Amino acid sequence: MSEVVTSEMVVRPLSDAMGAEIIGVDAANMIDADFERLRDALHEHIMLAVRDQALDPASQTAFAKRFGEIQYHINSEYKMKDQPEVLILSTEVVDGKNVGIPDAGSDWHSDHSYVDRPTAYTILQSVVVPEHGGDTEWTNMVMAYETLSDDLKARIEGLIGIHSFNRARNPRWSRVSRHKDPDEYYNRVSPPDAFHPIVRTHPATGRKALFVSPRFTIGIKEMDDTEAQPLLDALFAHIDNRDFVYHHKWRPGDLVLWDNRQTLHLACGGVKPPEVRRMHRTTVLGEIPA
Ligand SMILES: [Fe+2]
Repeated sequence: MSEVVTSEMVVRPLSDAMGAEIIGVDAANMIDADFERLRDALHEHIMLAVRDQALDPASQTAFAKRFGEIQYHINSEYKMKDQPEVLILSTEVVDGKNVGIPDAGSDWHSDHSYVDRPTAYTILQSVVVPEHGGDTEWTNMVMAYETLSDDLKARIEGLIGIHSFNRARNPRWSRVSRHKDPDEYYNRVSPPDAFHPIVRTHPATGRKALFVSPRFTIGIKEMDDTEAQPLLDALFAHIDNRDFVYHHKWRPGDLVLWDNRQTLHLACGGVKPPEVRRMHRTTVLGEIPA
């Protein structure tokens, strides 16, 4: 793909799989035409790293609202007190307490796929970027769908995945948890199951993408686990392909956006104290997947 220049905004692909960096814009003060170009670039490249941004929580919220309605996280604990649209992801510990979610996204997932209207867009403003660790990966689920064998494509046609926040019901859970009694925690906070097509069509691009994840997809509707789990295993084995992945090493000032309808993402972790990683997350409500 070649570099595209529109007015001041430069869109430069980051890998063969997906992702682009954006240079030459101020996300807090974009005219509508530039915003529309940015959104089109996001749909095309699936993930964008807008360089050299420093949105405060109010500006980040206003920027997110240009994409649609804010989606609030089910856990109130780490929402910013005076700006609840912003969720704090952080490894910082103050007075023995985490100031944000320290380990969000440690399994491949699409944000909020466990509710009826999963997230369309996630926006992460980097606030503190460590020298080592804290990278993030995204995988291209359009490419994943398109490269499935004809046999697998036929087998998943019309199937509906069961999505749950409840790790205690996920057969792929390693049982590693920061919660004291994880079974009690997940059973208490998890909303009812959500049901989504295993192949979804993007409302803007018309592209088809796989919409399952090891973190949240725990079964297949109206299919016994003896059949459903091996089928999910086959899909997850297919997704596990570095050719689909973009690995992001964060730079200070990165404002990263992604389209959850076309990608899974993974927090790579590995931040060691006294280094700190802090990000501010805002999510935008999506449509009912179809
Ligand atoms: Fe996430």
